[in-house]
Amino acid sequence: MIELRDITKTFSSRQENLLALNAVDLSIDTGEAFGVIGESGAGKSTLLRMVNMLERPDSGTVKVDQTDLTTLSKKELRQEQKQIGMVFQQFNLLNNLTVADNVKLPLTLHDYADPLTLDDVLAFVGLSDKKHSYPQELSGGQKQRVGIARALITRPKLLLCDEPTSALDQNTTEEVVAVLKKAHQEFKMTIVVVTHELPVVKSLCNRAALMEAGEIRQIVKINRSSSEKTIKPYLDRAREVLADD
Ligand SMILES: Nc1ncnc2c1ncn2[C@@H]1O[C@H](COP(=O)(O)OP(=O)(O)O)[C@@H](O)[C@H]1O
Ligand SMILES: [Mg+2]
Repeated sequence: MIELRDITKTFSSRQENLLALNAVDLSIDTGEAFGVIGESGAGKSTLLRMVNMLERPDSGTVKVDQTDLTTLSKKELRQEQKQIGMVFQQFNLLNNLTVADNVKLPLTLHDYADPLTLDDVLAFVGLSDKKHSYPQELSGGQKQRVGIARALITRPKLLLCDEPTSALDQNTTEEVVAVLKKAHQEFKMTIVVVTHELPVVKSLCNRAALMEAGEIRQIVKINRSSSEKTIKPYLDRAREVLADD
């Protein structure tokens, strides 16, 4: 369970103080797939980065499974952070490493009790045949699946995704959403997805927070009944938008 209580975060520059998060309260249950929706600048990334303490709040508490991360020592925090995976908009792959070495990277940085094997995680994201490829040889969707594999190999209990499909076109978005959905189902992990793309949340999440100007305006339950059709092939959507019949 994730519990954010009364989180405030200001970014200060010489010109101004910018209130990025204003008294935010949020609880996310273990095993949820939770969306955070809002326009650019709403505070979505800042909120997400609170959950693994990549950003520290000015005030308020951040609890993950009852542990208040704001009070931990560096070493204790590192132990908690090891259980939290992250997926980024721009993939954050190392271009001079193969797919295999990118995916194994977390295991070279820390000890993990029960990691997945490289072969299993590559099979899971459908990239077994790309093991020895380099990132520049891959499509955007494949790169993001490498990013997801790198997060999954440590078996995180919590997966944070910041605009995971925003650098992708509609069809590769679908392929990445499918992998995230499968990860949520098979590993029973909690997933938090920040995005401005409504179909992604509709397809993946059970609840979502709607953010504006550093505040959560509303939390909605998501109607999944029609979600199968929300991400359509590109040409189908193009026809719908453009054709006059
Ligand atoms: N490191 C930073 N330094 C200064 N301002 C920042 C920083 N990170 C975010 N902000 C500002 O905080 C606000 C919220 O940003 P962000 O959380 O990135 O929004 P979103 O992800 O919804 O686009 C924006 O106005 C942004 O410019
Ligand atoms: Mg952002």
